Amino acid sequence: MTDQLTSMAAHAPSDDVIAKAHVDAAKYDSMYAASIADPDGFWREQAQRVDWIKPFTQVRDVDFTLGNVHINWFADGTLNVAANCIDRHLATRGDQTAIIWEPDDPKDEALHITYRQLHSNVCRMANVLKSLGVGRGDRVVIYLPMIPEAAYAMLACARIGAIHSVVFAGFSPDALGARVNGCDAKVVITADGAPRGGRVTNLKDNVNKALLNDFDDVTCLVVRRTGQQVAWRGDLDVWYHEAAETVSDDCPPEEMNAEDPLFILYTSGSTGQPKGVVHTSGGYLVYAAMTQQITFDYHDGDIFWCSADVGWVTGHSYIVYGPLANGATTLMFEGVPTYPDASRFWQVCEKHKVNQFYTAPTAIRALMGQGNSFVEGSDLSSLRLLGTVGEPINPEAWNWYNEVVGKGKCPIVDTWWQTETGGHMMTPLPGAHATKPGAAQKPFFGVKPLVLDPASGAVVEGNGVEGVLVIADSWPGQMRTVWGDHARFEKTYFADYKGYYFSGDGCRRDADGDYWITGRVDDVINVSGHRMGTAEVESALVAHEKVAEAAVVGFPHDIKGQGIYCYVTLMNGQEPSDELRTELRNWVRSEIGPIASPDVIQWAPGLPKTRSGKIMRRILRKIAENDFGALGDTSTLADPSVVDDLIENRAKA
Ligand code: WT7
Repeated sequence: MTDQLTSMAAHAPSDDVIAKAHVDAAKYDSMYAASIADPDGFWREQAQRVDWIKPFTQVRDVDFTLGNVHINWFADGTLNVAANCIDRHLATRGDQTAIIWEPDDPKDEALHITYRQLHSNVCRMANVLKSLGVGRGDRVVIYLPMIPEAAYAMLACARIGAIHSVVFAGFSPDALGARVNGCDAKVVITADGAPRGGRVTNLKDNVNKALLNDFDDVTCLVVRRTGQQVAWRGDLDVWYHEAAETVSDDCPPEEMNAEDPLFILYTSGSTGQPKGVVHTSGGYLVYAAMTQQITFDYHDGDIFWCSADVGWVTGHSYIVYGPLANGATTLMFEGVPTYPDASRFWQVCEKHKVNQFYTAPTAIRALMGQGNSFVEGSDLSSLRLLGTVGEPINPEAWNWYNEVVGKGKCPIVDTWWQTETGGHMMTPLPGAHATKPGAAQKPFFGVKPLVLDPASGAVVEGNGVEGVLVIADSWPGQMRTVWGDHARFEKTYFADYKGYYFSGDGCRRDADGDYWITGRVDDVINVSGHRMGTAEVESALVAHEKVAEAAVVGFPHDIKGQGIYCYVTLMNGQEPSDELRTELRNWVRSEIGPIASPDVIQWAPGLPKTRSGKIMRRILRKIAENDFGALGDTSTLADPSVVDDLIENRAKA
């Protein structure tokens, strides 16, 4: 019934949209079929989007068998990713804007950086890194605000063959330190301060806290953004603007192998330790470029805006690598959607005549809550397409985005993908599919989704079915390994369902064969589109001296999608209090970062455990959801009375 209703509500693309689109319905069907029937032929052709220094002869060498997992694409080819994003465009579009930079404060001047300027800025940054001893294969951590230097730094690493690891500037010193240590970085690139929403984060202070005691061999390159006073670590710190004056603005790109790592990006899993997702050069770039062009129906001259931060994979693929590989104009926004007020996104769309706009459901819900007047004051006639990413979007938010922002004329692409996948895996294509509010809908070319029965692992055939989502075969943008821990890579993604890549998500295939993501099936929660391992928050909590034990679950949250609900058992003799609650909240913020801030802390004299001592999270989830009727079987609990206590105190939390 729901399926019928939702398919009746499908929004078919207009004739204008279809006429302009790179891919219409017939082309989607034939291209998709070809991509599955002959992946080698399909990807050999698609890989020509990229300029190869030495052309590849092998398309792919892939094995998903546990114990022998390896993923290689275009492995005997060589290229340089930065040259593909910059140099090859210079002859035809040297004076075209590559990056539009919109500062936090709308009164400050926006920048238009041409491809030629991008070239010289990236070369300078590359030469500065070289002068600091960075070479092929070395790791560089980038901890910067959303300023052009963040893109320069990423591309400079790519140019000289160094591997970057961008750490979101909202992460705490501890989280930063763990990542610097995890990838053994030689240099950290940061700024004095990061203005965001009218407030400044003292980034350099955070770096000092992260590095001061343990990292006296790590150089810190500091970009001047705010001009504020900063504390210096002696010779270990270098001002970027000073170093840049002493180097040339030309730096020849290194010839890299297709499978040389391009970047590491740390992301949460179901254990306490974030894992370093490794993406390599050739396949990643092909996939980022192709998806940016086709999913967003990008055409030459369009202005493309992805509102993510470069600290997440979305920013890597759809602010920097995908758009620039395509010679696009990409917009980089330093601020937040609600500063100076809730019209900012739409003001920026008007100011820069944005054609494609890509954001997260959490932002859409927050802005929807502020009322339509904030949208109606801006001229949004340049918009042709809207996109969302990061979490399932509820139909109310989808409809608002469609009607109030898109005026019913912009197709919405609801793109399902992951840090691990490098680029879009499922999404409707704007000229090919009638969209359904909340559906990620169709696999992208070369992607073979399967629904499995979670218990037996058997493939669930047919439509109108539900289960866990796996991908049956590789695609060029797939992550290759976990940095320094290939066994963990195999165990996380290939052990539960043999022979498949396991996404960690549940999904439904409706009566029409369209896919709907139902959310994570592991202990990962999705807070405002950001992934958070519940185990990470638990380890932060138990690291506090007054905490004996903690269990963390997600619960439905109107704006954030999911909120963080913590059950905390205190050490003997500790008294619960509101002050302690605040202390613990601040503690988690300082251990991980503000995005991990607990929404609810409930004091729990005991946690529901099985006789073997395993915490029954299913019950804790239900209590957090206020759903006491559906607790299920509690008979295996060692002490069923703890549940009554938790329910009784639910309201007080
Ligand atoms: C998880 C990946 C990759 C971009 C940002 C998040 C959820 C992502 C959707 C969507 C429903 C989505 C999944 C996925 N997710 N996009 N369109 N609809 N759920 O990257 O931090 O690696 O998180 O985000 O649960 O597994 P990430």
